[in-house]
Amino acid sequence: MRCAKRGLKATMALALASLLGLAVDAHATAAPSIIPLPAQVSLGQGGYAISAAAVIHVAPGDRAASEAARYLADLLARTRGLSLPVIEDAAATTRGGIVIRSDASASVTQAEGYVLDVDAQGMRITARDAAGLFYGAISAWQLMTPDAAKGAVSVPSLHIADWPRFAWRGLMLDSARHFQQPAEIKQLLDAMAQHKLNVFHWHLTDDQGWRLEIRRYPKLTQVGAWRRPPGDGDSKYGGYYTQAEVKDIVAYAAARHITVVPEIDMPGHAQAAVAAYPDIGVTGEQPPVSINWGVNPYLFNVDEHTIDFLHNVLDEVMELFPSTFIHVGGDEAIKDQWKASAAVQARMRALGIKDENALQSWFIERMGQYLAQHGRRLIGWDEILEGGVPPSASVMSWRGTQGAIDAAKLGHDVVLSPAPTLYFDNLQSHLDDEPSGRLGVQTLASVYAFEAVSPKLSAAQAKHVLGAQANIWTEYLTAPWQIQHAAFPRLDALAEAAWTPANARHYDNFIARLPAQFARYRGMGIDYADSAFAVDMRAQRLNETADKVRVTLAAQESSVTIRYTTDGTMPVASSPAYHEPIEATLPVTISATTFAADGTPLARVSTQRFDARTLASYGDRALEGCPKGDLGLRVPLLPDATSPAPVYNVDVMNSCWRVAKVPLDDVSSIDIDGAWLARNYGLAHDASKVVARASHTAAGELEVHLDTCDGPLAASMPLPAKGVPGSTYHVAASVAAHGGTHDLCIFSTAPIQGPMTGLSRVSLSSPASLRATP
Ligand code: ACM
Repeated sequence: MRCAKRGLKATMALALASLLGLAVDAHATAAPSIIPLPAQVSLGQGGYAISAAAVIHVAPGDRAASEAARYLADLLARTRGLSLPVIEDAAATTRGGIVIRSDASASVTQAEGYVLDVDAQGMRITARDAAGLFYGAISAWQLMTPDAAKGAVSVPSLHIADWPRFAWRGLMLDSARHFQQPAEIKQLLDAMAQHKLNVFHWHLTDDQGWRLEIRRYPKLTQVGAWRRPPGDGDSKYGGYYTQAEVKDIVAYAAARHITVVPEIDMPGHAQAAVAAYPDIGVTGEQPPVSINWGVNPYLFNVDEHTIDFLHNVLDEVMELFPSTFIHVGGDEAIKDQWKASAAVQARMRALGIKDENALQSWFIERMGQYLAQHGRRLIGWDEILEGGVPPSASVMSWRGTQGAIDAAKLGHDVVLSPAPTLYFDNLQSHLDDEPSGRLGVQTLASVYAFEAVSPKLSAAQAKHVLGAQANIWTEYLTAPWQIQHAAFPRLDALAEAAWTPANARHYDNFIARLPAQFARYRGMGIDYADSAFAVDMRAQRLNETADKVRVTLAAQESSVTIRYTTDGTMPVASSPAYHEPIEATLPVTISATTFAADGTPLARVSTQRFDARTLASYGDRALEGCPKGDLGLRVPLLPDATSPAPVYNVDVMNSCWRVAKVPLDDVSSIDIDGAWLARNYGLAHDASKVVARASHTAAGELEVHLDTCDGPLAASMPLPAKGVPGSTYHVAASVAAHGGTHDLCIFSTAPIQGPMTGLSRVSLSSPASLRATP
């Protein structure tokens, strides 16, 4: 039914085009669901039906075509249930059906580009290079999976000429904070390839783990790959990739036209390495592998011994990774240890270097020169600009885009991966069921709007922009499903920013192509986020004493239709469409989701019951920072917990929450649910700014103040003693009659040396609310 409707629409568009004798500009009308959108698409007349009897032809000896064909055949079998044989066929070029062919005179001349034609005779893909053929095959797969149906499919006649806007279309994965199995990385590599992304930046070392086996220095992984999680007894967390596993992953990526760029972070983020070999550290002491997220003080020292050590590490890195670019980090290296070390200071003076930032430049340049001697190029985070950009360096801009602008103006190549937009550890909505992550919400729309080339760059400077990259940091992304949730579909938006010509990008058109992509994700078992389409509900009481509410429904994507029920049934494509707030009598249960134009549901069903009790209960969504602002992080119960719930919105600097506009008429008691959370944050120079408050009992209290944090005390609830990270608590107190509507400021006076106070729900009750609840 769904496909019939979609097919009808497409047929009508094509019939109209044929009537007018025109090719249809697919950018202006409904483009086929290819993501990223090709550089040029024109729709023709009619189409080509691909049945289960279809065959993919390649010429004998055309290895690139054969590999692309096999990848296509495998994808089709898994997602469409079509098992098409790949036939080596001397007459391939003159055959109908599906033909994939290397062609040195293909009309698209750009590297990685391809031409794809569909007409009544069949489908033909040609390209000048192997990557182009592969990307042509990916587009062909998307054309053959326009919906969730299985089996035969009709593909519209069209002509595609396509090539990438940028040569660097990247995704970074942090395997140091949390470790992923090789199979999980391969699944991500496949998904990258299917988005025509071609650089996998692999963050392999950090304070919390050294994940790459180095034969010459076995303790890097024997010691450096394992940490002791806070609050978790004697358990160990960790893992590493053997060199055999790395070779396998690099080969797997290469077969999908992805280059793996390894990152060995230096001179900071070095604590795991120093834990393994204290003589390469500054202080001589042996720290544990860090359990603290954030910025930790451990740096490499600047002795020749340490430079040699790192060159030896790079030797093995270069042996494993054929990538031209090798990433050496350079970020967040606070210089306290270098400043405090007589040896480092003496060496700095002996080298005639003026300060620690310049010393970092010297350090990075020693790596850059070494890499250059071996035919490689160094890339580092934008902090490497601080002491004067090392001559050999390319720059990855993460602290916004200024680093990229500065470096490009100085003639260095740059990659844009700015926080917060391209930091996919930021959540993508404020919905209550988002998993842990950073709370600087970055929506699908904000990622789509990302533009890699700043207008501040001249055309010549803009040539230094190699491309764009999304980063998946994993402090709060503990499990593969969470990485997928963070990546998809925002990676679709990133892919379009990195591949599609800037003037061909249209957000509405992108949104219209997503339902088919979601069906592909489901077919491949990818746990994508529906956050842009899920329905959010907000209720407002119409009067305090009576039992009427007005419920507003909204989804981030306002172009899609919300449908809802109020009778406890699941909404379907024929349920009432939402146009204006729903006025209802308590209690009422509302279920809602969004639907694409063809009736496909776009998100999970949101269901919420509204009654006197739920209306007086405030969860994550209602909890803001104090006095008014962002909390910053949404953390799991324990730092390595992999379950979707519970999660806690916290400000690690200040355990204080605000709940706005709480009706207090008739309220007689307050209940708070929360948990003790690990305080595992490297706060560097901000450590002294953590807010400490005087407490009256051993474990501190939760104090509730009216209106402001200095306002009248409404309740003070002693927190249970002996709270260890990962334990939950419930406290309650009676509240004197206040009346009226007030903001609540709730803060913890627990000692800041112990675990952090987490807070998940604040519930107020009154005799009336208890009566109203059946
Ligand atoms: C970074 O986020 N420290 C590159």
